[in-house]
Amino acid sequence: MNRRDFITTVAVSGGSAYAAMKALGLLEKPATAQSPSQGGSFQLQRNGRGKRVIILGAGLAGMASAYELGKVGYDCIILEARSRAGGRCWTLRGGDEFTDTLGQTQTVQFAPGLYLNPGPARIPQEHVTLDYCREFGVAVEVKENLNRQEYYYKTKNAGLLSGQKVRAREAITDIRGYISELLAKAINQNAINAPLTTEDKERLVEFLKTYGGLSPDLFYKGSSGRGFINYPSAGLQPGLQSDPYDLSALIQLGFANYEAFESDWQQQMTMLQPVGGIDQIAKAFERKVSQKITFQSEVKEIRKTPNGVSIVYTNSSGTNQQIKGDYCICTIPLPVLTSIPSDFSADMKQAIDNVAALYARAGKGGLQFRRRFWEEDEKIFGGITWTDQDINQIWYPSEGYLSNKGILVGYYQFDDTKVGPLSPRQRIALAVEQGSNIHPQYRNEFENAVTVYWPTIPHNLGGWASYINDARQKYYARLNKRDGNIYLCGEHVSYLTGWMAGALESARLVSSKINTLA
Ligand code: ALA
Repeated sequence: MNRRDFITTVAVSGGSAYAAMKALGLLEKPATAQSPSQGGSFQLQRNGRGKRVIILGAGLAGMASAYELGKVGYDCIILEARSRAGGRCWTLRGGDEFTDTLGQTQTVQFAPGLYLNPGPARIPQEHVTLDYCREFGVAVEVKENLNRQEYYYKTKNAGLLSGQKVRAREAITDIRGYISELLAKAINQNAINAPLTTEDKERLVEFLKTYGGLSPDLFYKGSSGRGFINYPSAGLQPGLQSDPYDLSALIQLGFANYEAFESDWQQQMTMLQPVGGIDQIAKAFERKVSQKITFQSEVKEIRKTPNGVSIVYTNSSGTNQQIKGDYCICTIPLPVLTSIPSDFSADMKQAIDNVAALYARAGKGGLQFRRRFWEEDEKIFGGITWTDQDINQIWYPSEGYLSNKGILVGYYQFDDTKVGPLSPRQRIALAVEQGSNIHPQYRNEFENAVTVYWPTIPHNLGGWASYINDARQKYYARLNKRDGNIYLCGEHVSYLTGWMAGALESARLVSSKINTLA
């Protein structure tokens, strides 16, 4: 390049030598944030040269941030209020004890080998969570999330099938049959207005015949798909097919919301869970970053300094400490963060306060039974029974098949306004009473239980961020933007709220953002 060309390039770059050199490729290209990661392997590009990152919280978001930044030379320090790592990625086993914000203590009585995951408990097949399980050698097994052996049990406004256990298999097969019948007839009577050729219509009717199990004259009269009264067996026993429910009874039962939930792209039939409890994921992260975690360190102040951050926290002996760093990654759940004195700017504070108020009031209870009657008596191996009672759902375990005792999730609500506000003893009584309407075996087989109501769990004070109404539009962008050198990180700054993957993707994104500044 000659001198004249260089001067011309500087001129079109607004006179900036830096911009001109960049345009000419004379400078190293600035690193761009790599996330959203979409899973797979992940590696930050630039060396952190010992810059100090203070990470608030040793949940998955905090530990994944420390892990990724630590790999490229950042000095990460994690302050964790509890004496354990993992946050909501938590498993309760016999002997564990915890106290909620109301001072109610529960001691878990589960038999050896049994557990409840009170928070996250299922992993969709596409989530980055599984990439970390692979990287860390965390063994996973199938979590049967959807099982047509499960029941729909409704007590109110459910017509003829009120108070009746309806197998999902029967209801779904029947409604599919009836809808196919109606549509096939409508097509044959030219009663649908769709841009289809005559040949397309014929093919669609053929499709519906198979799909809906229709007779040659296009009636749904039941199907082996819905199950049998007597199952096919040896010798002279071909099986006796069960009769379908009436269409109107199925319409009145109204189970579309249950089926729709299980059709969500994340609520898959085959999901995954770590063998032995969800906390195996937290423990795997902890093994990678244990040197960086300071436990029993409760954050008291989050401050900006001219070039970085300053954090005040109480140490294990209860005295205040101050620590300074270049950056802060704050993974503290917003209902907790909202009360911590800080230098957040006014718009950030407003966003934190408003989203904090919207956290899911999730609650879950694990019930131990001396016998796995759902497997023995009712042939249910995994999946979820749905009900309009306060317990909302019953989860059958995907671990320990054919063994003796087992844990059912006896209730689980995203917005638990009925069970969670009760005392633990009352929650259990209610779960046993309502559950025994579906499984009378509860009365003889129940042994003990533990319940968790996330709004009353210290250091969480809620389930997960729930961007209802226009909250995402109003506050989300602000929460995602750094405030000085402080970055919020966690499931609450993701579109995967309420999933471990949200925390992990957020950790990758925030680490990438900091790394571009290295
Ligand atoms: N992701 C959470 C669940 O699957 C909310 O229950």
